[in-house]
Amino acid sequence: MKEYNWEERNIIRMPGEIALHTEDLHVYYGSNEAIKGVDLEFEKNKITALIGPSGCGKSTYLRSLNRMNDGIASASVTGKIVYKDVDVNASNIDVYEMRKRIGMVFQRPNPFSKSIRENITFALKQHGLKDKKQLDEIVETSLKQAALWDQVKDNLDKSALALSGGQQQRLCIARAVAMKPDILLLDEPASALDPISTGTVEETLIKLKEDYTIIIVTHNMQQAARISDYTAFFYLGNVIEYDATPKIFTRPKIQATEDYVSGHFG
Ligand SMILES: Nc1ncnc2c1ncn2[C@@H]1O[C@H](COP(=O)(O)OP(=O)(O)OP(=O)(O)O)[C@@H](O)[C@H]1O
Ligand SMILES: [Mg+2]
Repeated sequence: MKEYNWEERNIIRMPGEIALHTEDLHVYYGSNEAIKGVDLEFEKNKITALIGPSGCGKSTYLRSLNRMNDGIASASVTGKIVYKDVDVNASNIDVYEMRKRIGMVFQRPNPFSKSIRENITFALKQHGLKDKKQLDEIVETSLKQAALWDQVKDNLDKSALALSGGQQQRLCIARAVAMKPDILLLDEPASALDPISTGTVEETLIKLKEDYTIIIVTHNMQQAARISDYTAFFYLGNVIEYDATPKIFTRPKIQATEDYVSGHFG
C-alpha cells in the first residue's frame, strides 16, 4: 500500500437546495466502527454516487439513511440524518412513514412472488388506497417512469418472477417510485445485470432525477462518471473526497481518490 495522508479531505458543500444531509454520522456493528463520523449533503434532483473499495462502508452508510440498519441487532447509529429539518435518526420517528419519503432499491432484484401489478399496488393498498382507477394509474405511471411499461403492459397479471433480471430490477424501481418518495437510495442496482439492462437502468435513473433525489452506491466507475452529478469517495468508514463528478474523475484534489478512480489504488 502506497503512503497516503489519510487526514487530507476535500468535501464540498452543495451549491443548490439540499434534500438530505448527515451530521457526524457513526455506525457501529458491535465494537466495529464501520462509519466514522460522516458529514455529507445531498443536493435535490441530483444523482450522487458513493464509491470506494469493498468493505469501506458504502452500503452501511446508505442503509442508515432510511434506517435499514434498525433491523440489524448489533448495529447502532449515532449522529443526525436531516430530512426537511427532521432528524430521521431520532427515536420518535415513524420509520414506516419515513420510508415512503426515502425509498430503497437493493442490489439483487427482489420482487414479491406476486403479479407485476400487485408488486406495485401491494404497499399502496396497505396504506389504504383502494380506488381501482387510481391504482391502475399509479401502476402505469410508475412502470413508465421505470422504463418498463411498454414491455409489460399486456402482461400485468403475470408473475413478476417470470421477468428477466433487468426487468425485475426496473420493477423494483417502479415499486419504489410508486410510493412517490422524495429520495431514492440504490445499492448497486445494476451489478447483477447485463450491459444492455444496465444501460436501461442508467437511462431510467437519469430521467428519474427530474422528480427525485438519487443516491447510488456503485462499484462501476464508468457508471458513476456517466450518471452522477456528485461523487463521494469512501475509504475505511470515512469520506475522503466529495466533489462534482467530473472533478473526481479528472482532477481530484486527493491522491488516494485519483489512484482509486484510475485503478492504481493500493
Ligand atoms: N450486518 C452486518 N453485521 C456486522 N458487520 C457488518 C454488517 N454489514 C457490514 N458490516 C461490516 O461493516 C463494514 C462495512 O461494510 P459495508 O457492507 O457497508 O461495505 P461496502 O462498502 O458496502 O462493501 P461492498 O462494496 O463490498 O458492498 C465491513 O467491515 C463489514 O464487515
Ligand atoms: Mg455494499
